Amino acid sequence: MKIALIGADGQLGTDLYKYFSGRGEDITGLTLEDIEICNKNLCNSVLLDLRPGLVINTAAYNLVDEAETEVSNAFDVNVAGVKNIAEICSSMGCALMHFSTDFIFGGYEKTTPYNEDDCPSPLNIYGISKLAGEYVIRYIMKKYYIIRICGLYGHTSSLGKGYNFVELMIKMASEGRPIKVVNDQVLTPTSTKDITEKLYELIKTEKYGTYHMTNTGSCSWYEFACEIFKLSGLNPQINPTTTEDFGAKAKRPFYSVLDNHNLRQAGLKDLRHWKNALADYIAERKK
Ligand SMILES: NC(=O)c1ccc[n+]([C@@H]2O[C@H](COP(=O)([O-])OP(=O)(O)OC[C@H]3O[C@@H](n4cnc5c(N)ncnc54)[C@H](OP(=O)(O)O)[C@@H]3O)[C@@H](O)[C@H]2O)c1
Repeated sequence: MKIALIGADGQLGTDLYKYFSGRGEDITGLTLEDIEICNKNLCNSVLLDLRPGLVINTAAYNLVDEAETEVSNAFDVNVAGVKNIAEICSSMGCALMHFSTDFIFGGYEKTTPYNEDDCPSPLNIYGISKLAGEYVIRYIMKKYYIIRICGLYGHTSSLGKGYNFVELMIKMASEGRPIKVVNDQVLTPTSTKDITEKLYELIKTEKYGTYHMTNTGSCSWYEFACEIFKLSGLNPQINPTTTEDFGAKAKRPFYSVLDNHNLRQAGLKDLRHWKNALADYIAERKK
């Protein structure tokens, strides 16, 4: 099956392209130089030219704090752009794989992992725009995979953000900067490598639907940072702080751990524990 990958030079896109092409898949990587999802005519001509059986869209506006003021930019990419792609895929009869986020949940009402049927209640504009993107796909399409992920890190840092959390922590520690990290937001750090391998398995099932896909276990951002330093042999001055003291512009859920329920239902094994995935990542970056 021919695959078109949008956002091929992003954090997830880079690993996806490497893994899928390494497995002999007929995958074409598209970057912002080839395709702009907000430009429907361009999307139409690029995708009609390729005639893929599956489009994988990793493109997103993912600046969580900036989205609070750049509302229309977030909605242009995460909603209108996604609508363009969904309409084109639907008219070509091809499937779409799209990525959403743990931030569609509010994290006030639960302290146990969210499954795919839990009611969304996003707390920030980014989460609202990503949730709207999900609804648009479900409204237009039948053959879709919506994959909700969380706390992503990969060897190609997020292009949108310019960093990932692991690299940011290591950089701050090596510069000797004092580090404050929130200890009251609980998540599951997730490796792009593990996601990519599981996506490959999922695509083979052709079981369309909405999936949570994260490594297993959970921790606060502070605990995540401490584990990064332990595995990297770094010993910076690090202090836990609260969401209130940290004072980010966008609200974030206190708890946004996802249960990969639908993945197990589809007959796929759960992902490994986040600490094992992180240990691999740190070992690989030392090579
Ligand atoms: N990072 C996380 O922790 C996290 C957590 C949950 C969910 N997600 C979701 O996972 C997906 C992948 O995230 P990521 O970290 O891999 O993002 P990323 O590194 O920022 O990659 C996004 C890619 O999309 C491209 N792009 C942005 N706007 C575009 C547009 N209008 N048209 C075409 N291409 C465009 C970017 O190109 P340029 O860089 O050249 O602009 C980049 O190649 C996104 O849907 C994100 O919302 C991420």
